[in-house]
Amino acid sequence: MYIGVDYYPEHWPRARWATDARLMRKAGFTVVRLAEFNWVNMEPSEGVYDFSLLDEALALLAKHGISAILCTPTAIMPAWLARAYPATLATQRDGTRLTWGVRKNNCFSNGTYRLLSKRITRAMARYFADTPNVIGWQTDNEFGHPFCHCATCRAAFQEWLRGRHGTLDEFNRAWGTHFWGQRIQEWAEITIPDDAGSHNPSACLDWQRFFSWLNVRFQHDQVRILRDLCPRHFITHNFMGLFKELDYYALARDLDFVSWDNYPVWGAPEIRYDAALAADVMRGLKRRNFWIMEQTAGPCGWGVFSRNVRPGELRNIAWQQCAHGADGMVWFRWRTCTAGREQYWHGLLGHDGRPLRRYKEAAQTAREMHALAPLLDGTTVAADVAIVYDYDSLWALRIQPGFAENDYQKAIGRYYRALFRAGVNVDIVPRDADLSRYKLVLAPALHVLPDDAADRLVRYVRAGGILLVDCRTAVKDGTNLCHPRTLPGLLTPALGIAIEEYDAVPGTMNCAVQGTPAFPGTFTAVHYTDWVRPRGATQLAGYTDWHIRKYAALTRHACGTGAGWYLGAVIKEDAFYDQLVRQLLDDACVTALLRPPAGVELCVRRGARHELIFLVNHTEEPQTVAVPAGLRDALRNRACAGRVTLERYGVVVLWRARRSPVAKSKRAKEQTAPNGRTC
Ligand code: GLA
Ligand code: ZN
Repeated sequence: MYIGVDYYPEHWPRARWATDARLMRKAGFTVVRLAEFNWVNMEPSEGVYDFSLLDEALALLAKHGISAILCTPTAIMPAWLARAYPATLATQRDGTRLTWGVRKNNCFSNGTYRLLSKRITRAMARYFADTPNVIGWQTDNEFGHPFCHCATCRAAFQEWLRGRHGTLDEFNRAWGTHFWGQRIQEWAEITIPDDAGSHNPSACLDWQRFFSWLNVRFQHDQVRILRDLCPRHFITHNFMGLFKELDYYALARDLDFVSWDNYPVWGAPEIRYDAALAADVMRGLKRRNFWIMEQTAGPCGWGVFSRNVRPGELRNIAWQQCAHGADGMVWFRWRTCTAGREQYWHGLLGHDGRPLRRYKEAAQTAREMHALAPLLDGTTVAADVAIVYDYDSLWALRIQPGFAENDYQKAIGRYYRALFRAGVNVDIVPRDADLSRYKLVLAPALHVLPDDAADRLVRYVRAGGILLVDCRTAVKDGTNLCHPRTLPGLLTPALGIAIEEYDAVPGTMNCAVQGTPAFPGTFTAVHYTDWVRPRGATQLAGYTDWHIRKYAALTRHACGTGAGWYLGAVIKEDAFYDQLVRQLLDDACVTALLRPPAGVELCVRRGARHELIFLVNHTEEPQTVAVPAGLRDALRNRACAGRVTLERYGVVVLWRARRSPVAKSKRAKEQTAPNGRTC
């Protein structure tokens, strides 16, 4: 297992490097990431290359048994480049160019920038292809900015639209340009829409897709070179978890595996739902384990810094990611820089370079992870439940949320958090994923739903799957036009309902939701209600307010050998989602290994012969968890008797051999859901 730090030797005197390498090795670190923003040092003037600094650093690290991931340095252009080719700097909406001096300020369509980026990539790849301790590459840094509005980008957008839509007739249909007299008669007439303004939502969605594609293409230019010249090396990129601007599925396609940058310490201590969700999104991009390329090492901030990690918390943050499928752990950064914008983005070492508390905790974590590596090898998160995560829906809901407060990630979060509390692992999957391996699929707010995707969901239910969908699902087609159908459109056979009207519930307004005996309780609908008429579905909750008394809030419909659930409101109480998720899990015959106490996370990584059970305490109180018999404490290497105690922010990893597949399938056959459905 590779564990290490992001290291910037160019920030420190050469005399210090040996001390750094020695301390790294002492901590058990086996890898560093280098060269991320180092373009000007490697190409001090156009076409003149100098890799001596990296060479020297790599040789020293090699002596200490440390490998390296090199970055293509294209997230910061050298000053000479900006001066010689000002058009490489991105143009803002108002037509002014970005000023050189920050990072990530290039236009991704600019031919010169693409050419120079390929050249430095090729020069690096040639030079380091056979350096023994170079093991892989990170493309650029955190793709996703900036949006550029230059004439080249506009022309490229027009070209991309022509490729996507083929003819002007098709294009005009897709954008619905009969509205407001927006018919386009020549491709060159198309402008860049303003998503913050009142431009055509179909235009805004295509512009977002185009921007995403530009980044993917830019990366692809580099990947091709690296694959060609460095066939022994892996290629990854440092993603940003729940970042919204790019189609991360597409960006991941070219890579060997995904890495991501995890900084969960902003704000007060709280349960790390988002870090868990982000990790699952990252694992879902390629359906395989990932690395953490930048892991929280201390307070973070560029002007104001966040709170510091509490004792035990740095270790907790790292193990949480390992539990979700991280197979590599790289802390950002080794030592806190004394210069530049990131003086307060703290590393494992402070400005003083001394190996203190945070260093020691990382070293402890590294030791533990190395010890567990043979057991982690070949395992990944085992999930019977999937959540569909769809960038088209995310973007379309950002362009037009429909009701105030509507946010795609929050919509997913309501269920994700309840599943987290229930101790159930989740796979995050794209809209077109094969769902047949999942017992339960949740597709909240799946706003953009092309017909083939709807058909797939209906087939999934007919074939025995349990599906939950909710508000504003199936409203839009793939071009961001409203489907001319009664909602839930093509999903109707799976859901057995009709939604002829709906209602925003703004501000402090709300509606009382009353459960039936099958779904007991009184709850509060906020933000939005669908006026749902059951058409074959069973009503599980309804409203008591006079104007919507006859409508359902929650329904379940048996369809084929499966069932489709519909929730037509946003509910204020977490308890509602906890109860709903419990019922969905029952319906799908999914059982958690145990019910973790509040604030304790349960994750299972499974391999062919054994499984690892992670318990991660996200609270500042010790927690005791009752666990099934027959488990071993993998970190302490001893049997574990019935219960484990987790200290504040504590982590315990348990393991056991897997039951034989024969015994398991026999058991599965006998299973019946509490509502009588046979699983
Ligand atoms: C990002 C970048 C790093 C560094 C950190 C801290 O995650 O990838 O280069 O800038 O933020 O600001
Ligand atoms: Zn541009």
